[in-house]
Amino acid sequence: MSAAPEPYDAIVLGAGAAGMMCAATAGQRGLRVLLIDHGPAPGRKILISGGGRCNFTNLHTAPDRYLSANPHFAKSALGRYTAQDFLALVERHGIAWHEKTLGQLFCDGSARQIVDLLAGECAAAGVELLCGQPVNQIAHRDGLFHVTRNGVDLTGRALVLATGGPAIPKLGATGFAYEVARQFGLAVVQPRPALVPFTLGPADALFQSLSGVAAEVAVHWGKTCFREAALFTHKGLSGPAMLQISSYWEHRTPIAVDFLPQADPGWLVEHKRQQPRAGLRRVLGATLPARLAEVLAERLELDRELGALNDKALRAAEARLARWPFQPTGTEGFAKAEVTAGGISTADLSSRTMMARRVPGLYAIGECVDVTGWLGGYNFQWAWASGWAAGQAI
Ligand code: FDA
Repeated sequence: MSAAPEPYDAIVLGAGAAGMMCAATAGQRGLRVLLIDHGPAPGRKILISGGGRCNFTNLHTAPDRYLSANPHFAKSALGRYTAQDFLALVERHGIAWHEKTLGQLFCDGSARQIVDLLAGECAAAGVELLCGQPVNQIAHRDGLFHVTRNGVDLTGRALVLATGGPAIPKLGATGFAYEVARQFGLAVVQPRPALVPFTLGPADALFQSLSGVAAEVAVHWGKTCFREAALFTHKGLSGPAMLQISSYWEHRTPIAVDFLPQADPGWLVEHKRQQPRAGLRRVLGATLPARLAEVLAERLELDRELGALNDKALRAAEARLARWPFQPTGTEGFAKAEVTAGGISTADLSSRTMMARRVPGLYAIGECVDVTGWLGGYNFQWAWASGWAAGQAI
């Protein structure tokens, strides 16, 4: 009878951003690591990220740019593996990069370079990679994690959950990490689509006729505000400002859009003094796209010369333009979400090592954990930092 194969020091489930970072880090420490993915190749979400150029980190990374039931949880990992650390790795691999806006760093070339970087780090660290087969079963006995794949029992002293969340299922995204977490008694914060476009109902049909029109706005939900571009779509609202606020939004609540965030208070009355013959549509059209100016003026029912309107009506119009309410009917869901908010509860994990407090050897990293970043490279930075923290601790 042949002896059972030697267990791996760690089996990492999910060869995405977090899983590859974790496997490479642990492998470089001399550990024997197996990295498993059910997809045909590693890093498929990285390949489509940042419009194909991968917004791989953000220079302004800070814990307050992440949503979590415990806003302090991400501090330790983000503090120990920083945007500068990942940037140094990018430079070591000779990848040219640029800052686009708001601290967002992109490859000059292609997102493929980041996948190659991670695959290269894994290979150099001796990580074994198995792609293309689903994992059928996971068990824990005799101090080892047993992963059954394709009828073969693979064992590891540690098991790392890095299978992400269910956003963009057509790319192989699943809620598998949550199932395994629950199997081991870990709590899961209700997962929901985040960084996702809104849908609008018949009350806002006029705006849907603006499909393709974009404008720089400030969008508010409660005390949260983002000042970035918004895009009207045939279904509703998208663009960076809307994606950002969607992560905070709760169903059946309104959002408010400031269409002229740069305007000084009293600007419309001032306009009336200076250009009494101008109409609202023309005044708005000086700053906003013509079609949007037209719809706003139509909605405000003030499309006549400013000089013919009293100051009170103009102040009311100004206030409305600064807090234009939209009542989203929902979002475009996981099919169009860039990330999943919620996930494996941080209450059950060590913020230093990412290990489950009550299940020694079980780790969770990346998007499957209840830590969700803003748009702009923050989610990859969380994947790198949490992957690195676990890779150091295993
Ligand atoms: P990730 O999803 O990367 O990897 C999980 C892996 O697990 C996948 O390879 C999957 O195949 C595998 N898997 C799933 N279920 C499995 C199972 N049952 N068995 C085995 N394997 C399984 N972020 C950012 O910071 N900058 C950006 O530019 C972008 N751009 C972007 C664009 C688009 C279109 C999307 C959808 C998302 C982004 N993101 C982003 C978000 C970013 O892609 C995301 O936060 C990270 O990929 C999360 O990394 P993880 O490793 O946690 O999961």
